[in-house]
Amino acid sequence: MPKVTFVAHDGTTTIADEPDGVSVMRAGQNAGLAGIVAECGGSMMCATCHVYVREPWAAQLPAMTATEDEMLSMTTSERKATSRLSCQIVLSAAIDGITVELPETQI
Ligand code: FES
Repeated sequence: MPKVTFVAHDGTTTIADEPDGVSVMRAGQNAGLAGIVAECGGSMMCATCHVYVREPWAAQLPAMTATEDEMLSMTTSERKATSRLSCQIVLSAAIDGITVELPETQI
């Protein structure tokens, strides 16, 4: 199962592994992370699942849709070049080991 590492704003690291097809958002929620709020449940309507994807994974992800781009303009914490909505990142062997940093706040 692909692994995903979450780095909280305070530096705390949590590693989760989930089957292919599970979103990074859901993996974070399953791991009990408070830093992933995900108010809309993955419908790309809230931007409270914002993460900063570390390289080299950020460059390996599919391009974001116009809707994701629009939602990322509404994040509470600063948007960066590697900002993504974690509900739109689907785990697979291709991105096994992906590491994402959680912003200081989601709301
Ligand atoms: S969970 Fe709402 S936009 Fe990702």
